[in-house]
Amino acid sequence: MDAISFARGNPTPEILPVAELADCARAVVERDGSVILNYGAGGGYAPLREWIASRHGVSPAQVIVTPSSLLAFRFVMRQLVGDGACVAVEAPSYDRTILVLRELGARVVGVPMDDDGIELDRVEELLAGDDPPRALYTIPTFQNPSGRTLSLERRRGLVELARTHGLLLFEDDPYGLVRFEGEPLPSLYELADGDGVVYASSFSKTVAPGLRVGYVVVPAELAAPVEKIANATYISPPLLPQAAIRELIRRGGFEPNLERARELLRLRRDAMVGALAAEMPVGSSWNRPQGGYFLWLDFPVGVLTDDVFDRAAEAGVAFVKGSDFFPGPGGESSARLAFSFPSVDEIHEGVRRLATVVRTTVPLTT
Ligand SMILES: Cc1ncc(COP(=O)(O)O)c(C=O)c1O
Repeated sequence: MDAISFARGNPTPEILPVAELADCARAVVERDGSVILNYGAGGGYAPLREWIASRHGVSPAQVIVTPSSLLAFRFVMRQLVGDGACVAVEAPSYDRTILVLRELGARVVGVPMDDDGIELDRVEELLAGDDPPRALYTIPTFQNPSGRTLSLERRRGLVELARTHGLLLFEDDPYGLVRFEGEPLPSLYELADGDGVVYASSFSKTVAPGLRVGYVVVPAELAAPVEKIANATYISPPLLPQAAIRELIRRGGFEPNLERARELLRLRRDAMVGALAAEMPVGSSWNRPQGGYFLWLDFPVGVLTDDVFDRAAEAGVAFVKGSDFFPGPGGESSARLAFSFPSVDEIHEGVRRLATVVRTTVPLTT
């Protein structure tokens, strides 16, 4: 078997609704080509904005649809975060957003997490400090990279804390709908009634990442400035992919496709958790997320990821080092494993290869 990647958060190709999207794309060009093949509004394709707005109970002007939710994050943060502003993120957090914040000149501070998500007393400590964060970036559900989900109690606590201290919450939620089991939790946006929360999501995990369609729901006062940044950046986003998604929704294809994606991912999560239990040496630990793309693996005490990484690559298995997701120190003995892309057989074989490498890594004894 060739090299196996647990590194990339890509969907397995089976997940992509190729034939349906081909149909939808042809239909929308034929029906609405004179609109979607032209320049449009900076905030995106109006019928999709309207659908998203109705799901979130806001005005369509508050929805900015972008070619990537990461770009939406950049636009909002550009508007809100000046040079040197402090922005808090979970530690660990999505590495690309940390990079964007640094590029924008923000000072990024990490807040520790446990199995229930970000630790609220640590957020409180930061807020009481000399340079309190202006905003907190959080991925509360099936987090990238850890797979963790913020508990309901902490969701309520975080919203309350943010309200008391005037802390803006940026809730990034591309995985919330990719739930295999368990009860869905309310978003921070819902708990706060939209007050002081920016909500971002994406069709990358629910339909297809290659369409490059993400979005952000912003408070009314941010809608015009953020749309202006989008317009100044690319005039208007590509409308064809947005119209194709709207057509998939109109035909009733969104939910069944999501259900299919969830099942394919659940099989992979189960295969990975089962293989880890069967293969990993004593002292290793990992979680079992109820959805999403990733889980978090801690190697036995004393085993450093740096000592595993290259040997794992030589053995034909790739992952991302835990430390890549921390804005400061952390994750030196951990790995992010994506179960979204490989087949079930590849997952078994990849975990077997990784476990062999870990078993033969000499732990630090000091
Ligand atoms: C937490 C998080 N936010 C944003 C994104 C980017 O999504 P998009 O494909 O919309 O750029 C990802 C992609 O993996 C992600 O994990």
